[in-house]
Amino acid sequence: MKPSVVYKKIVMFQDLNPAQMLYGGTMLNWMDEAGAIFATELLGPERAFVTLKVSEVLFKHPAKLGDLLTFYAHISRLGRTSFGVSVSVHNRQREIVSCDLSFVALDNEGTPTVHGLTI
Ligand SMILES: CC(C)(COP(=O)(O)OP(=O)(O)OC[C@H]1O[C@@H](n2cnc3c(N)ncnc32)[C@H](O)[C@@H]1OP(=O)(O)O)[C@@H](O)C(=O)NCCC(=O)NCCS
Repeated sequence: MKPSVVYKKIVMFQDLNPAQMLYGGTMLNWMDEAGAIFATELLGPERAFVTLKVSEVLFKHPAKLGDLLTFYAHISRLGRTSFGVSVSVHNRQREIVSCDLSFVALDNEGTPTVHGLTI
């Protein structure tokens, strides 16, 4: 499946760490949000889900002040109630960070339920 552009962010002063690079915790927040936006688009706004797991986070290159970042997502795995979303973050030149998120679809009682997604 072709990755979708989920959203874009620009690195601002308040996002920097003392080394003048994007703070990793902020990047994790943005990637979780990108994965959740993608999952909402897949499931529809009425379906509930939670993040089960964040894995394989790789900070390959730093993001710097003023960098325009593009967040791509695609389905990496389909289980019965769970599904994986791979998130890849690019600056203008290349991929700088990637991670894999697992989500679980929930019913109205908050119990895992079949998500019904197909590739
Ligand atoms: C997600 C949650 C509902 C799963 O509960 P659970 O009792 O493990 O549910 P189940 O045993 O029915 O498993 C649900 C799915 O998670 C998967 N799963 C559960 N534990 C797992 C683990 N340790 N590693 C990988 N997958 C796991 C199961 O394989 C199943 O997927 P499948 O149906 O595709 O095979 C529960 O762990 C939870 O509420 N976690 C907190 C979520 C949260 O607060 N997230 C942050 C805010 S969004």
